[in-house]
Amino acid sequence: MKRYLITGASRGIGRAIAEKLAAPDVTLLLHGRDTVALADVCKSLKANCANIIRLIHDLAISSGVSDLIAEVGKDPIDLLVNNAGVAVVKPFGEITSVEWEQTLGVNVTAPFLLTQHFAPRMPPGSSIVNILSIAAKTGYPSWSAYCMSKFALEGFSQSVREELREHKIRVINVYPAATDTSIWNQLEGEWPREKMISPEEVAGAVAYALSRPNDVALENITLSSLTGSL
Ligand SMILES: NC(=O)c1ccc[n+]([C@@H]2O[C@H](COP(=O)([O-])OP(=O)(O)OC[C@H]3O[C@@H](n4cnc5c(N)ncnc54)[C@H](OP(=O)(O)O)[C@@H]3O)[C@@H](O)[C@H]2O)c1
Repeated sequence: MKRYLITGASRGIGRAIAEKLAAPDVTLLLHGRDTVALADVCKSLKANCANIIRLIHDLAISSGVSDLIAEVGKDPIDLLVNNAGVAVVKPFGEITSVEWEQTLGVNVTAPFLLTQHFAPRMPPGSSIVNILSIAAKTGYPSWSAYCMSKFALEGFSQSVREELREHKIRVINVYPAATDTSIWNQLEGEWPREKMISPEEVAGAVAYALSRPNDVALENITLSSLTGSL
C-alpha cells in the first residue's frame, strides 16, 4: 500500500492533486486547517482510495509541523507534496513582520521540516513534489514576501534534489502561473480568473511526472496560460 502525504489538500491545487492521485492501492494523508473543507474532500474521495487520513494542523508554527509529523507516524511515505501556501500581496513597505513570518513559516520552513523528516525514511522510488510558482523565478511588484518564499524554496529544493539523487528519490518542482483557486479571494485588486489555468491542469502535470518510470525524473514543470501572464 502506497502512502501519499499532501499538504494544503483542503482546496485548490492540493485538493486537485489528491483527486488525481486517489487510487485503490493508495492511502492518502490529506492535510489542511479547515476541518469542514477537508471533510468534504475526504468524503468525495472515499470511494476511490484504500484509506484517507485527515491531518488538521497550522503549518505557520513549528509545533503544528511537528504535530503533523507525529500523526503521520512511523510508517514511511512514498510521496510528499509540499503544496500548502499563503500569499501576501502589498508594497514591501506595508508588509508586517507577522505576515512575513507567516509566509516564511508556511511556504519555506514547513516544507524544510517535512522534507528533513520524511526524506530519510522514504524508500527508493519515492518522490517529493514542491509546488512553487513562476514567482520562484521572477520578482513582481507587491509580491516581494511571496517571491522571497518561493525563491527560498527553489534554492532549498534544487540542492536537496542533488542530495537525494543517490537515494533514488525524485524531487519534482512545479511552477504554475496564476491558477484559479481561492488563494486570490482575499487579495486586493482585480484578478481576471478567465486568464488563469485550472488547478486540475496543475494536478494533471504532477500526476504525469509521477507516472514516469522511477529512474526518469521530470524535474521542473512550468505551466502558464496561453493568454499570457496577468
Ligand atoms: N493559485 C495560484 O495562482 C498559484 C500559482 C502558483 C503557485 N501556487 C501555489 O500553490 C499552492 C496551493 O495554492 P492554492 O492556489 O491552491 O491556494 P488555496 O486554494 O488558498 O489553498 C491553500 C492551501 O494551503 C493551506 N494553508 C494555508 N495556510 C496554511 C497554514 N497556515 N497552515 C496549514 N495549511 C495552510 C490551506 O489550508 P486551509 O484552507 O484548510 O486553511 C489550503 O489547503 C501554494 O503553495 C501556492 O503558493 C498557487
